[in-house]
Amino acid sequence: MSQLDHKSQAWSALFSEPVSELVQRYTASVGFDQRLWRADIQGSLAHAAMLAAQGIISAQDLADIRRGLAQVAQEIESGSFEWKLELEDVHLNVEARLTQLVGDAGKRLHTGRSRNDQVATDVRLWLRGEIDLIAGLLSQLQQALLGLAERNADVILPGFTHLQVAQPVSFGHHMLAYVEMFARDAERMADVRKRVNRLPLGAAALAGTSYPLDREAVAAELGMEGVCQNSLDAVSDRDFAIEFTAAATLAMVHVSRLSEELVLWTSQNFGFIRIADRFTTGSSIMPQKKNPDVPELARGKTGRVAGHLVALVTLMKGQPLAYNKDNQEDKEPLFDTVDTLRDTLRIFADMMDGITVDAQAMEQAARRGFATATDLADYLVRKGLPFRDAHETVAHAVRAAQQQGCDLSELPLATLQGFHPSIGQDVFQVLSLRGSLDARKVLGGTAPEQVRAQVARHRRRLA
Ligand code: ARG
Repeated sequence: MSQLDHKSQAWSALFSEPVSELVQRYTASVGFDQRLWRADIQGSLAHAAMLAAQGIISAQDLADIRRGLAQVAQEIESGSFEWKLELEDVHLNVEARLTQLVGDAGKRLHTGRSRNDQVATDVRLWLRGEIDLIAGLLSQLQQALLGLAERNADVILPGFTHLQVAQPVSFGHHMLAYVEMFARDAERMADVRKRVNRLPLGAAALAGTSYPLDREAVAAELGMEGVCQNSLDAVSDRDFAIEFTAAATLAMVHVSRLSEELVLWTSQNFGFIRIADRFTTGSSIMPQKKNPDVPELARGKTGRVAGHLVALVTLMKGQPLAYNKDNQEDKEPLFDTVDTLRDTLRIFADMMDGITVDAQAMEQAARRGFATATDLADYLVRKGLPFRDAHETVAHAVRAAQQQGCDLSELPLATLQGFHPSIGQDVFQVLSLRGSLDARKVLGGTAPEQVRAQVARHRRRLA
């Protein structure tokens, strides 16, 4: 019977009784960490190849390990692998089956290694792959937003501050604000990846090992950018997972802000956009309803990811060096963060692509809010008024327009001249929404020509 067949004998002859069933369930992680199996096998193959190259195990052992792990991988993939709770985690499950298949070579695989450096390696390898998928999804989402921005560069949206109509902006410009956010999220992911992609193997349990391991060779074999340089740190810190979750939280926060706008804009009170039906749901009682469930859920799920960040930081904060079992609790928050972010980004890339815009409703809303009042003030400044005086003059004009229930541009020239004699016929170009938009040609401004230039810049960056 293999040493690992029974939990009571999993560790050594030192133990006089098996753990209780409840303790077994409480301490096991195989229910969730089995998703690390590919990384576990990948790490083991690199470790075994290095052990053989260093003459620590024989070429025959390496061949047996390779054959055995290939079979284990095939069994897991096909669903025939029997995961055993009493073998606690993915690492012991894989190793036990390997040993069943190839005998002593399987028992030699763990030479110079501990589950402490093994699990840290597995999580890093797995997370690296997920970061790459997330980077691809972030770029798809940006592409979708760029398409929307380009199609609607000339569409006028009321820009808000304090959710009060402030100044007209291009709808495309508004979408480009989110492209900037998701571009920074992608940068953060790329930066986190560098620190995720370092090798703990060789740290063994905590102090390193007396075997002549070639850690650099294992790192190179696994495509890692370097080796963790302190064994205690290598097995114990999960800051890479925390950083990733922080970056994921920010990406979700950006999705959540966008969601909030989509929810507002699809409501009858705004009526600015329509989301394709496949992203909305009906009500079981109110036949007229079409609810923006996807953005609402994304907004809600942002709370859950932010919660995972708090969980991970809290998990880490009181731990003495080096490895502690607390760290087993890093997995579920991390896995759920990855799943939530991936699904959300994928669905949003698709959803943003299918958004249709009601340009008329947006323009009407911009008109209702005296969105060109600042343009009138700027006009008066060009005529020689100090800005503060111009500001005050325009306030009077807005008040008059409010009382007459019209827009500034609808006041007769004579009325406008009553506020300041320098006002001339040319003011009406300034008071038009289009004129206001076109005037903001400054780098990063909302003029449609700027919007198109920015779309082109982003496309080059993403190409
Ligand atoms: N399942 C454990 C984890 O996720 C693996 C490492 C366990 N190491 C140990 N010495 N108990 O952290």
